[in-house]
Amino acid sequence: MPSSRLNSLILALPKAELHVHLEGSMQPKTLLLLAERNGIDLGCADEEGVRAMYRYRDFPHFLALYGTLTSVLRRPEDFQLITHELGMEAARQGTRYLEVTFSPATHYRNKSIAVDEMMDAIAEGAQAVLQEVGVEMRFIPDHVREYGQEFCQLTAEWCVQGRDRGVVALGLGGGEQGRPASLFADAIHWVQAQGMPFVPHAGEAVGPEGVWDALQFNPPRIGHGVRAAEDPELVDYLCEKRIVLEVCPTSNIRTGCVASWNEHPLRRLWDAGVLLTINSDDPPMFNTTLLDEYRVAVTQFGFTADDLARLSMNAARASLLPAEKREQLVETFKRGYKRRSARMDCPCQRASSPCRDHQSDKSILLHLTPIALSTSCNIGVGSEIGTPFSSPYLAPIPLIVLIGRGEPTPYFQSCKNTLSFSSTCVPSMGCSSIAGEYLLAGAVRPSASAIART
Ligand code: HPA
Ligand code: ZN
Repeated sequence: MPSSRLNSLILALPKAELHVHLEGSMQPKTLLLLAERNGIDLGCADEEGVRAMYRYRDFPHFLALYGTLTSVLRRPEDFQLITHELGMEAARQGTRYLEVTFSPATHYRNKSIAVDEMMDAIAEGAQAVLQEVGVEMRFIPDHVREYGQEFCQLTAEWCVQGRDRGVVALGLGGGEQGRPASLFADAIHWVQAQGMPFVPHAGEAVGPEGVWDALQFNPPRIGHGVRAAEDPELVDYLCEKRIVLEVCPTSNIRTGCVASWNEHPLRRLWDAGVLLTINSDDPPMFNTTLLDEYRVAVTQFGFTADDLARLSMNAARASLLPAEKREQLVETFKRGYKRRSARMDCPCQRASSPCRDHQSDKSILLHLTPIALSTSCNIGVGSEIGTPFSSPYLAPIPLIVLIGRGEPTPYFQSCKNTLSFSSTCVPSMGCSSIAGEYLLAGAVRPSASAIART
C-alpha cells in the first residue's frame, strides 16, 4: 500500500489509546518552556538538545531521564497545560479516547505538590479538551515501584479520591527488576475492595515471571506484557482469560527491552490470539506518535487494514469506561469502520479513476472561523494531511476532511467557539456536500453539526 494511502487510512481509523504517560507526553517545546518558567536547568537549550537527550542506553537510563524531565512540572497550571496539549494532539491524530497514566507521588514526594490541586488541574485540562474537540480522557495514577509500599497505599487512596475527576484505575510503573507487583499486595487489594481496577506495567523489563506475578491480582489489562511471549503456558492463559496487553512497540525498541524489530513478539502474540492494543507510551521521548505505532504494525509486522481495525476495537472494548459509555464508544468505532469499508469495497478503489464519492485520498483543509469573528469560511486544498494553511481570517480553525464520503478525518487546532460552516463554499470541487455530510456524521460536536445544517 502506498504510504500516503496508509497514512490516510490510519488517520481516519477511529482510535483509542490506553497506555500513554502524561509526563512522558510533554512536547520538547513545552518541556523547555516549563523548565524556563520554573527555573529548572535541563542542560539543554533547544528542541534539538531535548531530542538528543532522548537516547537511552537501557531501561534504567530511560527511567532516570524520565525523573529529570518530570522535575519541570511545578505548579497545578503546568499539569493543566500538558493535559490539554496531550488531548489536542490526540484529536489531531484521530484518537477519540485516552486513558492517561501519571505518577502523582513523583510530584508530591519530590516537590511537595498538593495531589488534590494536581488532580483538579488535570481534570480541568481534560474538560477543556472534551469541550474543544470532543476527545474523552480518563486517568490512571500509577505507583512508582521504587517508592515503596507506603507510597503505593497513598497512591491507591488518591485514586479513590480522584474518581470524580476521571480516575479509573491504579497503575504500577517504574523499575520492575526485583520489585514484583506482589510487593504491593496490600494496597492493590485495598484499592480493588473500593471497586477500582489495577492495571500494572509487567513483562516489560523482566520476563514472564513478572506477568505471572501481576496476574494473581486479576488485572483486566497489562501494560506492555510483551515478554509473556517467552512462556507458551502464559500466552494460553492470557488468551483464555481474555487479558488485554497494552503493547507499545517503539517504546520497547528505544528502551532496549526488545533488542530489534525482528525479535519483537507483537506478531507472535497476535497470531496466538492474545488480545492486543497498540499504544505510544511516552511519544516524544520515543520519537513516536500513536499514528506511527499503527504504521509500524503494518510496516514491521505485516498487519492488514482489518487487523488495524481490530486493534483499535480491542482498545475501545478494553477501556475502563462505565459499560454504557464504553458501548457508545464501541458503536462510534463501528460506524467509523463501516464508512471506511464502504469506501474500500467500492469498485472505484480498484479502477484508474475513482468515482465522485472517492475522488482521491487527498485532504482538503477547511478553515472554519469562530462565529464571533466571521460567519464565512475559507476552503483550500491541502497537499498533505497536516500541512499548515494560511487563511485570511482571524483565528482560523483548520479541519482536515478527506475527499470522498468514506473516511474524512477531523483535524482541529483550536475551536474554543462554536464553528460556522457554509456548505456552498466549494461547489466546483464537488466536495461541499461531502464535507457537510461529514460534519453531520458526528465527527464534530453536535453544536457544530447543527450550525452546519443551517
Ligand atoms: N515502564 C515503567 N515506568 C514508566 C514507563 C514504562 O514504560 N514509562 C514511564 N514510566
Ligand atoms: Zn508505560
